[in-house]
Amino acid sequence: MAYYIGIDLGTSGTKTVLFDREGKALASSTIEYPLYQPKNGYAEQDPDDWWNAAVGTIRAVLEKSGVASSDVKGIGISGQMHGLVMLDKDGKVIRRSIIWCDQRTAKECEEITERVGAERLIEITANPALTGFTASKILWVRNNEPENYAKCAKILLPKDYVRYKLTGEFATEVSDASGMQLLDVPNRCWSDEVLEKLDIDKNLLGKVYESPDITGYVTEEAAALTGLAAGTIVVGGAGDNAAAAVGTGVVEDGKAFTTIGTSGVVFAHSSTVSIDPKGRVHTFCCAVPGQWHIMGVTQGAGLSLKWFRDNFCGAEKETAALMGVDPYYLMDQEAEKVPVGSNKLLYLPYLMGERTPHLDPDCRGVFFGLSAIHTKRDMLRAVLEGVAFSLNDCKNIIGGMGVPVSDMMACGGGGTSRVWRQMLADLYGCEVKTAANREGPALGVAILAMVGAGEYASVPEACRAIIKADKVQAPIPENSEKYAPFYQLYTELYPALKDSYKKLAAID
Ligand code: XUL
Repeated sequence: MAYYIGIDLGTSGTKTVLFDREGKALASSTIEYPLYQPKNGYAEQDPDDWWNAAVGTIRAVLEKSGVASSDVKGIGISGQMHGLVMLDKDGKVIRRSIIWCDQRTAKECEEITERVGAERLIEITANPALTGFTASKILWVRNNEPENYAKCAKILLPKDYVRYKLTGEFATEVSDASGMQLLDVPNRCWSDEVLEKLDIDKNLLGKVYESPDITGYVTEEAAALTGLAAGTIVVGGAGDNAAAAVGTGVVEDGKAFTTIGTSGVVFAHSSTVSIDPKGRVHTFCCAVPGQWHIMGVTQGAGLSLKWFRDNFCGAEKETAALMGVDPYYLMDQEAEKVPVGSNKLLYLPYLMGERTPHLDPDCRGVFFGLSAIHTKRDMLRAVLEGVAFSLNDCKNIIGGMGVPVSDMMACGGGGTSRVWRQMLADLYGCEVKTAANREGPALGVAILAMVGAGEYASVPEACRAIIKADKVQAPIPENSEKYAPFYQLYTELYPALKDSYKKLAAID
């Protein structure tokens, strides 16, 4: 029998799933780890927490499933994008990883734009300089921690650090590399021009593969730690969103998905390169060789709800523990009792700054319209609606670029919420479906491993065989109408607050 493992290195934890060749999950294991926020706007994680979680979860799925390691025919790795992992000449981690949602690099973004030129940067990397992306993090270390920069011999992305520990290879693949701001996205290779202008040595970077390509083999040492067989193939895999696309079958034109994880994403497949000249959405290489995707990202999606849960929903947490259910399930029920528009309360989900559509590291969350009539329940629904408004911003920009979206899937933790999916259907004005298989990115990279191992001839062929839709939610026209004035007002709030955010950020 042939089995495949998908590892998904997320921000809150690593989830590893073992699948058969039909995409059926036989065992799953998750290990969580901390996020360090030493200052407002900073976000770091320890790469060895990721590796230990990968080791622990691989061991667990092998043990739980009882599958012999020799029957595991391939491994794919997916992960949070953009994080900077710096290794010294002995392959040791130099400092904690500065991860995707860290916002400390505004100055370095200006430096990048100045060195490369705003237009040229968008032409080559398909994106303007972004605080979340890796290049500005590299420059920040060079500018602020020269002793660490001097020690750096290799730069890897989070999931590629796990690949390095599994195989000993310094490698990446096009979808994740697109988020470094060092890749020539239309041509799918490192950009000599950008590297030269930023004075970054190309030897620091790994070899770039297409996502289903074999990038290396599990070493004896990694085999002893994980229980895998030495020599098992490890394919390129993909950044978390490109992996989720494969795991939900979004691998052809017209198909799109919305993820509500820590961040929120609206992702549309595109067989051609299409770049927003204003840089409000990202254009990245996707996991289908030779193709791309357009993606809008709202920074604080699931993060907003988690923040609300952790700070205000202690009672729900206790009740949920007694009932043996997830606190989010109870929170959903509460939110459903509140009418569309949350009794005239709006929420801006900018807890960690924003990317789409505002590209502003300094903006922050807001409740707007708060009155003495409001209860916690109204605030909870406003949080859900604010995130949905922000995702609607993303979908509108993609539509405006002429990239067709006729088929929308929902995924991520928030995608399991019926009330959130209904909000999306009402705002998008189209059906929102879930995939029958909920493993998203882990399944996506396991499918890439199946293609790499030769089980299927191509990524779309594998997806057609494996991915099935499950629940379908149609828009409720009456709700769509009610949302319209609230969404309109929502879009007016950021421009009104823009300068105030800058002033707030400038206060010491
Ligand atoms: C994508 C992005 C997030 C992270 C974390 O550009 O920043 O989706 O990959 O999930």
